This record gives sequence, C-alpha cells and structure tokens, in this order.
Amino acid sequence: MVRGLKSLVADYRTRSASGYSGDSWAPFAKALDSAASVAADASATAPEVAAAKTALVTAADNLVAADAGTFQTITNDVFWNDTSGNPIYSQGGGVFRFGDTYYWYGVHYTGAELYRANPTRKYDGDVSFVSIPVYSSKDLVNWKFENRVATRSTSLGSGTTLGSAAWVGRLGVSYNENTGKYVLVVQAYLPSRGGDGVLFLQGDSPTDNFGYGYFQTQIVNSPTTGTGDQTVFTDDDGKDYLIFSNRSGRARAFVGKLRESDSLRVEPGVQIGYNASGREGNAMFKLDGKYYHAASDLHGWNTSVTHVIESTSSNIQGAYTSEYTLQGTEMDYSHVTQTGFFVTVKGTVQNAVIYAGDRWADFAWNGIGYNQWMPVTKSGARPQFHSVSQWQFNATTGEWRVGPQNNYVLNPNFQADRIIVPQVQGWANFRESGPSSIVTNVNGGANGSRFGLQIGATQSYAGGVWQQITVPAGTYALSLFARTSGSLSAAQVTVADASGNSRTYNVPASSGWSRRELAGIPLSAGTAIVTIRAASGNGYLFVDDLGLVKTSVDTQPTRYEAETGPAVCQGTIDSNHAGYSGSGFCNGDNATGAYAQFAVNMSAAGTATLAVRFANGASSARPANLMVNGSTVATVSLESTGAWSTWATKTLTVSLNAGSNTIRLDPTTAAGLPNVDCLDVGAVT
Ligand code: GCU
Ligand code: CA
Repeated sequence: MVRGLKSLVADYRTRSASGYSGDSWAPFAKALDSAASVAADASATAPEVAAAKTALVTAADNLVAADAGTFQTITNDVFWNDTSGNPIYSQGGGVFRFGDTYYWYGVHYTGAELYRANPTRKYDGDVSFVSIPVYSSKDLVNWKFENRVATRSTSLGSGTTLGSAAWVGRLGVSYNENTGKYVLVVQAYLPSRGGDGVLFLQGDSPTDNFGYGYFQTQIVNSPTTGTGDQTVFTDDDGKDYLIFSNRSGRARAFVGKLRESDSLRVEPGVQIGYNASGREGNAMFKLDGKYYHAASDLHGWNTSVTHVIESTSSNIQGAYTSEYTLQGTEMDYSHVTQTGFFVTVKGTVQNAVIYAGDRWADFAWNGIGYNQWMPVTKSGARPQFHSVSQWQFNATTGEWRVGPQNNYVLNPNFQADRIIVPQVQGWANFRESGPSSIVTNVNGGANGSRFGLQIGATQSYAGGVWQQITVPAGTYALSLFARTSGSLSAAQVTVADASGNSRTYNVPASSGWSRRELAGIPLSAGTAIVTIRAASGNGYLFVDDLGLVKTSVDTQPTRYEAETGPAVCQGTIDSNHAGYSGSGFCNGDNATGAYAQFAVNMSAAGTATLAVRFANGASSARPANLMVNGSTVATVSLESTGAWSTWATKTLTVSLNAGSNTIRLDPTTAAGLPNVDCLDVGAVT
C-alpha cells in the first residue's frame, strides 16, 4: 500500500479557485476530487494511488495563478531559525517542490551546533551525522520543521543502521511517478556495505520516516565508486537526475538519470564537463530553457567563485560549453560560500533561480550564518549572481528586490580568502608612498571573527585598498570596526559616488576594536568607490565588518495633473495632442507670466525631486522661473521636443515644507509655457 496521497490532497485543498484562472482551475478540481476518492478507498491498489498522486501533481502544475503574492525578506550573514525559533541545521541538501509546498532537506552535523553556539573558532572535521531534517515552506523564506526523515537509527537492513555510516551528506529527493514514493538520494560511506556509494531511502510522503531502498556503490562510467559531490535535479518534465562528479580527483562532471521505474538506481553517468583541478559542490539549474551546471573549486567546503558550464542543446545530457565564472561571484567568492544547490521558481511574472550557498566549511569560522541564498537572473546571454546580504522575494510572481538592510560592501569582513594573502579578494591595493606591500588580511578580526584587514608598515607609507560597488541613489550610513597601533597621520574610510561626491570618515586612534559610524552619506545611482587609506611613519590601521546600508526610504513619486484642481492653468485645458497623462494638459496662454501652478503636499519637510512633463512643438525653448512658495528657486529651460505630441520630462531638486506647497512654472518670455502635462514629486530624503 502506498501512502501519502491523503496528505497531498490535504495540501492541495488549501488552494482556492479565486487564486487561479477559471480555465486552469476546472481540470485541477476534477483531479483533486478523484484523488480524494482514491485516498478514501481502502482497497485502492498501489498503482492506483501512484497514478492519482501523479495526476494531481500534473493538474496542479498546470494551474495559472491569479494572485500577486507577497514579498518576504531573506537575510544572509546570520544563522537561520525555523518558524518555531529553533536553529535550522540543513547542510548539503536541496529544496524540492511537492504539491503546493517546498520541502528543504539537508544534513544536521554535530559541528553545526558547536559553531553556532560559539562562532569564534573552528570545529575541525566535526561532521558526525545527527539526522536529516525536513522543513516545509510555501514562500521559501519561512521554514517549518516537519520531521527527521532519517536518523542514526534508520535501518539499512542486514542489521546495520545509518549511525554506522562514516559519512552522510549531499542529498536530494525525487518523486517517483510510478511508485508514488519520495526517494532520498544520499552520498554515503558505509564501511560495512562496500564503502563509498549512493544510498537510496524512500517514504510515502515528503515528510515520512524514510526507509531503506538501495545502496549503489558504482555508477557506470564513473572511474571510481561513490560520487565526489552530488545533488538531485528535477527537470520540467518530472524526470530526475543525479548531478555528480567522480569521487577521486573530481575532475569529471556527470549527469546520471535516476531510473524511471522506481528512482532507486542511478543509470550510467554521461560526462558533461571536465576540469583537471577538480570541482565540487556540483549542482544544476535551468533558466530560459538552458541547463547550467555549477560547481566550486576543490578545497574542502571552502569558498570560491562559481564555475559554470551551460548546455548548448535542449538535452540535459548533451553538449555543454567550456567553463566560465558565474558573473557576480568574483569579488566575494559567491558571498563567501561554496555552491550548495539551486532552487528554480516558476513565477507568474518571471522565473527565478535561487543560489543556495554553503558557508559551513569544515567546520565554519568563515563568517556568520550557514545558509546564504542569493538571486540569480539572466543578464544578457549569461546568468548573473547578485551578492546581496538582504533581499526580498515573491515566490508567487518570482520577482525580487534588494532588501532595506542590504550591505552594499562586498567581502566586508575580509573572510573570503580563508588564508593570509597580500591582496584581499574584492579589494584592490593602492600605494602612494613607502614599501610595496602594506596590505594584508590578518588573523584576529573584530567580534571574534577569524580575519580582519591590516594596512601598515614599520617604515613611512601611505596607501590602502579600494572597492567599486553599484548602488541605487539614496542616503547611506557607513559603519565599521576599527583599531589602530602606533601613530597614524591618516586613517580614513571614504565613500565616493558616480557624480564625484565623497564623504570621508576619519578613524580615531583606538587600541581595541571600536564600532564607528558615519551617517547621512548621499550617493547618486551607479558605481561608488569605498576606499580605506592609512598613512604613517610606523603604525597600523585594522578594519573589519564594514557596512554600507541605505538609510533613506524610497517612496513612489506622487503625480499631480495640471488639469486637476487645485492646480491652476493660466490658459486652457486641452486634450488635442496625444500622449498626456490624466485627462488633458495645460495649454498656457502665449504670454510672459501665464503660469501653470501645482499644490503639492508633503508629509515631512525635506528635499524633493520634481519631474515636469511637457511638450514643446515650437522650434525654440520656452524658459520659465520655478517658484516654490512664492520664491524663484531656479530657471528652467523647457526645450523644443520637436512635436506637440512628443512629451519629455525635466527633473529638478527643491526643498519643500511639510504640509502644502505652491509650485509654479512662470514663463519669462512672450511665447509663454510649452504644454504642461503633470508634475511628479518624489522625496529624496
Ligand atoms: C499650437 C499647439 C498648442 C500650443 C501652442 C503654443 O497651437 O496646438 O497645443 O499650446 O501651439 O505654441 O503654445
Ligand atoms: Ca500655448
């Protein structure tokens, strides 16, 4: 008897017709009803239950959502908890969608608890297996603990248990359409069962207690038994594959299909890539019809850029390109992680890929937080990784945006390198005078962290490091931990924006680590440069935990139409030239002083951007004074737009009072104003 259909039906019962298009709802409702009757039928056979499960999943996949979903916040660089407030311990696994729910499986090792309790040292090699927990979520952000699908006492038959394994890791789950079973595929070293291999456990529901299925030591075509690293990838058509490298050397990347009858074997591996230096953390994602195989450098759970090969046909086991670096992973080694796995979300607006990175190391001390998840989008021909410390994701629509607390500095803790280097990853050295090497990362960072940045020498010098980042316009706060030794003639952190404006924080002398902050830094949109500089005869500046967070809140600009009172138009409201917003525009009289005026309400006093929308079909500009609350604050040249139906926008920055403000465009020549459509008012600070 195959179980799990009842819980699948119950899961889908939480859907309501209002959330979906009518066309897609009808077949789904039918499949749900027939699945419910199979579930209620005690005499239903295993193939009938399996068929009902598969029919229901297929109908649900074909539903077209109508709702807009909500944005949920993903915060990296912290330890994650489940919805009950308990630590999430889930390493080297994957997220899989079954029914309407995402399930996250991974491994809980003892080192995870030790490091989380005291993250100021490393717990070398403490990878004793505790259990394989499963968490569930609808939004991929809030995870509810469900069960431990396997534990040390899970029986492997012949008197052995999973507790006898010398290694358990790198797992994923596939739903088998024929058996109706959920099959957990685990990399394992079982000394009493032939050594390295792939262990298959299975259950009737995603959160069942999984039981023994099979242990496969050799995958055909792999030069060695077992796998190097592995993940499970489920394609759009429901077919499941093991993505793996060979165990010894890990130079070859393979895709092996899980056999269709029961998912309890890996069929012969097809080699899709080769790199003599070895690759691990092998994982697959699919974006816009292409398969991408991603992997990290081979150095034991440590951070690296992400290496990608992409399919050149629609065949997952076909040809792939040569390897390239996933854009955006260079400056901070994939947000100080190794590739873990990818989650693909089919959104109603767009498809989204989440890179789920692993910062657990062996065991940790490369920064706070284990699971670091970042969005991957397509930028031009290739995928782009976004190294954000906080972002917001809408699992319904697939849309994402940078979070309000995002730290725009990359490798801000100088942890990415893992070893002492004379050139810290993501930061460029510069030298104004003195010895050639004045920069290094050093052991003993702030807050018990492993590394910090050191600038200095025993001789006279000046120089430091800089980093280029990209920021949206706004006001920012810079924070850092710093300490000094010896005397410094300069110790400063400077943030400069694309317009050439800069603010410098002068770091006070301090023998111990002190938190420092400079708020109110205005930055224009585009590239910004963060520079850490010191100068001295014999002294050192130490910096760690840099933060550059946007403190201003973006508000949608408010639109004021010229034809809508209390706006005033010294002329007529016309609608004879297309392209205006609202119901018309102000056609001012052709006379000096024939103004258009707006009444603008502000919730607080401050700087605001005014965007005037106008069309000027005359051949010459029509200048005007910009008057705010009776005073002329600027003169504006409203140039020819070439035609009366061609609208343009002129943006100005002004100071406004809290409450109501009168904004007037007052023409200074006899031609009067061009036609004025509307005014968009947005707050800057
Ligand atoms: C034309 C045009 C008007 C415009 C006027 C002007 O008559 O149709 O919309 O306001 O020129 O020159 O001001
Ligand atoms: Ca006119």
